[in-house]
Amino acid sequence: MNFPTLLKRLAPVLLALGLFAVGIDQARAADKPAAAPVKLEGLRNGTPLNQDNPPGNFRQERDHPVSERDFVQQPPLIPHTISGYQITKNFNKCLDCHAWQKTKESGATKISVTHFKSRDGVELDKVSPRRYFCTQCHVPQSDAKPLVPNTFERAKGMQ
Ligand code: HEC
Ligand code: HEC
Repeated sequence: MNFPTLLKRLAPVLLALGLFAVGIDQARAADKPAAAPVKLEGLRNGTPLNQDNPPGNFRQERDHPVSERDFVQQPPLIPHTISGYQITKNFNKCLDCHAWQKTKESGATKISVTHFKSRDGVELDKVSPRRYFCTQCHVPQSDAKPLVPNTFERAKGMQ
C-alpha cells in the first residue's frame, strides 16, 4: 500500500478522532467558570475617532535646582526650560552654556567626559556626533501624570 492510499483509508478514523477531541474540549470549557472579560482601554479613553481629547498641560517647568538621579547611568533631567533652544547641524544652543569653555561664565554643568568619546571609542576634543543631539537623552520636565500605574523605584545605591 502506498502512502496516499493509506491516508485515504485512515481519513475517516482521523476525522472521528478529531471530532472526539473537539467534543472533550468543549465539555471541559463548559465546566470552567468563564474568566472575567479583559477590559481594554486605549489612551484615547473611548473618545470617538472623529473627536479629540482635550490637550494635556505639558508646559515645561520653570527653572529649578538640579534633580536627583534615579540610577548612576541616567542622563540627568534638564532642570530648566529649553523652549526656543535650537539644536541644528550648525548650531547647538545647549553648548552655548554647557560646553567646557563656557561653563565658568554660565554656571552650567560641564557636559560629561563620556560625551567626547566617538562610537569607535576614540577620545575627541569636541562633543562626539553621537552626543550632539542632547534632547535625544536629556529631557525637560513638565507635570505629566504617568499614563499607567507603575512601581518604579530609585536604584538601591542611590537611595
Ligand atoms: C543659558 C544657559 C544654558 C543653556 C542654553 C542650557 N543650559 Fe542646561 N543648565 C544651565 C544651568 C545654569 C544649569 C544648572 C546648573 C546647576 O544648578 O548646578 C543647567 C543644568 C542642566 C542639566 C542638569 C545637570 C545635572 O547635573 O543634573 C542638564 C541635563 C542640562 N542643563 C541640559 C541642557 C540641555 C540639553 C540644553 C539644550 C537643550 C541646555 N541644558 C541648555 C544652563 C543652560
Ligand atoms: C545618547 C545619550 C546622550 C546624549 C545625546 C547627550 N547626553 Fe548628556 N548624559 C547622558 C548620560 C547617560 C549622562 C550620565 C552618565 C554620563 O556621564 O555619561 C549624561 C550626563 C550629562 C551631564 C552631567 C555631567 C555631570 O558631570 O554630571 C550634562 C551636563 C550633560 N550630559 C549634558 C549634555 C548636553 C549639553 C548634550 C548635548 C550636547 C548631551 N548631554 C547629550 C546621555 C546623553
